[in-house]
Amino acid sequence: MPLSTDALAFFSHPDADIDFSALQAELFPRHLAVIMDGNGRWAKARGLSRSEGHKAGIRGLQELVEASVKLNIPYLTVYAFSTENWSRPQIEVNTLMKLFAKEIEKQMPLLTKNQVKLNFIGDIESLPKAVQQSFEQGLEQTKDHKQITLSLAVNYGSRQEIVRAAQRLIQAYASKDLLLENLDEEAFANELFTKGLPDIDLLIRTSGEYRLSNFLLWQIAYAEFYITDVLWPDFSRYDLVRAILSYQKRERRFGSIGA
Ligand code: IPE
Ligand code: IPE
Ligand code: MG
Repeated sequence: MPLSTDALAFFSHPDADIDFSALQAELFPRHLAVIMDGNGRWAKARGLSRSEGHKAGIRGLQELVEASVKLNIPYLTVYAFSTENWSRPQIEVNTLMKLFAKEIEKQMPLLTKNQVKLNFIGDIESLPKAVQQSFEQGLEQTKDHKQITLSLAVNYGSRQEIVRAAQRLIQAYASKDLLLENLDEEAFANELFTKGLPDIDLLIRTSGEYRLSNFLLWQIAYAEFYITDVLWPDFSRYDLVRAILSYQKRERRFGSIGA
């Protein structure tokens, strides 16, 4: 695939052992999801606190966003904090909340330069006020950006999302806004946090864990999985290209018999 000059410059590196010409323009994932895992282990390996690991993880996310933009991926969704992550030590949870409250504003130059439109999925209303304000401001400041939609999953749990959708549908049914015969997959998907986003094509998980950890159970029905041992703060633009090259070799059959 002929990458733009801009993208070529971004990806050029003397040690990059990647064949960029093998990338096929017509086979890019439209919606990429990433479970950003391994911050704690990254920190531990360096004798640092887990909180330092999360700070380092921001670098991984910057790298992922810029690389996705260069590759013209229109939808990117990342797992930043699960509903189960509240069970972590208070100091770690506090650090993460502080990062959510402060980083959006700090990253605004990058988000603007790359025309990143922010979106948030999860139970945002239960987050600390400062985090909610930061997210609201981020939404407002990026609402006209058109290059990529970046959805941050914060206080997100897929089972909770599905139960919430069921509750909303029952309410709509009770108030006669919904007829039973009109409840189909599309109507159901429209009550999920991911309303309006296409299904996931490719799911990447770092740090070598082979599980979903309550992420996007519905949306991932036909996604391809790519798992790498790389720890999240070390995730590079080349790791993204490796994942996409692997994805492009797959035959997505969607239950049919393929070519
Ligand atoms: C992922 O890294 C980030 C969050 C869950 C917020 P971890 O903190 O889970 O890192 P490990 O898995 O302990 O190495
Ligand atoms: C999943 O990672 C959540 C995020 C990356 C935000 P975890 O580290 O919380 O998942 P488990 O506990 O290993 O399944
Ligand atoms: Mg983890």
